[in-house]
Amino acid sequence: MNRILSTRAAELKPSATLAISAKEKELKSKGVDVIGFGAGEPDFPTPIRIREAGKRSLDKGETFYTPVAGTLELRKAIAERFSKDYGLKYGVENIVVSCGAKHSLYNIFQAIVDPGDEIMCLAPYWVSYPEMVALAGGRPVTVDTSAARGFEPEIESISDKIGPATKAIILNYPSNPTGVMYSIEFLEKLAELVEKKDLLVISDEIYDKLLFDGGSYTPFATIPGMKPRTVTVNGVSKTYAMTGLRIGYLAADSMEIVKATTNIQSQSTSNPSNTAQAAAAEALSGPQSEVIEMRNIFERRRDLMVELLDQVPKLSFVRPQGAFYVFVNISNFLGSKGMLGSSDFAAHLLEKYHVACVPGGPFGSDDHIRLSFATKEDVIIEGIKRIKTACEELRHE
Ligand SMILES: Cc1ncc(COP(=O)(O)O)c(C=O)c1O
Repeated sequence: MNRILSTRAAELKPSATLAISAKEKELKSKGVDVIGFGAGEPDFPTPIRIREAGKRSLDKGETFYTPVAGTLELRKAIAERFSKDYGLKYGVENIVVSCGAKHSLYNIFQAIVDPGDEIMCLAPYWVSYPEMVALAGGRPVTVDTSAARGFEPEIESISDKIGPATKAIILNYPSNPTGVMYSIEFLEKLAELVEKKDLLVISDEIYDKLLFDGGSYTPFATIPGMKPRTVTVNGVSKTYAMTGLRIGYLAADSMEIVKATTNIQSQSTSNPSNTAQAAAAEALSGPQSEVIEMRNIFERRRDLMVELLDQVPKLSFVRPQGAFYVFVNISNFLGSKGMLGSSDFAAHLLEKYHVACVPGGPFGSDDHIRLSFATKEDVIIEGIKRIKTACEELRHE
């Protein structure tokens, strides 16, 4: 056999963010004092009430398959959160629970993409969107944005790229990797365009509860006229520090999408873990005070990281309004030491200064690196000190 892999598997890139986390863990296990700015997950333990709910479920013997789209208990808890938090009315039949928001997104692209269909990704975008679209046989089409406009796309740039093959637009605010939010004006103008061009919107709202500066969140489905066109994706990973438990979900008015994603899941994972679903139901329906506490800690860390980064000459960034990332422009250093792009810069930081970060290339900007502040304050102080030293040494070459 001279060709084992399918073309689509052979062309698939591994997740850049997970690769950095693995490298960071490997160096740490060898005793290297690595500063980890690569993490895409909260560093807090899952709150006790949530862990206890998982344990109780196991003790009750809930170890069997669940309904494909998730337990009724969890889907009710999700529907109630949408209603309480945003006044969004979804029935339990509109919700499909999967093994993480990443899996929900994967199912959605498998459900809506035919070969040649175009799905629009607004750069900088989360690394997995273009890869998942391509894996489904579609064509990711990217729309560039600029730091000068706070990474908010221009409606004309989006409109220019819409053609007969365009099927959907992916939104993600606050954004991974930039932490920026979109303005209501932008969302409203986008809604007009979406209506006019008859498109679907996949709104990845996984960071909706990690919003700083007293900001309030506007889900895309609450923009007038948009609920029937929107598939909202969310999950418990980031909000409740539950990344390893793997629970995410989608909510959609379109029963076609709900049924198709459920069918796809029925032929792949069957259902998400029963135990994790019980824990997620408790996360969403119990008291929400830990969410605020964790958010406040992230906000203090954001303040610290941007204050320190401001003191590093020749680096620039847009102040993040949410999530736990700063997307730092390193273009002033490209060209020195044979560094051609963000991967070279990230490798230089890791090898010489033992600071792990994620290169911006896989997010759609090779002029940037992504620093995560989902780590302790002393780590942030030491890490930015090392980055400052690295930048000063590069400047004086
Ligand atoms: C923008 C975005 N969407 C989705 C996910 C996936 O989250 P989950 O852990 O629920 O699969 C992540 C995780 O990094 C993310 O940053």
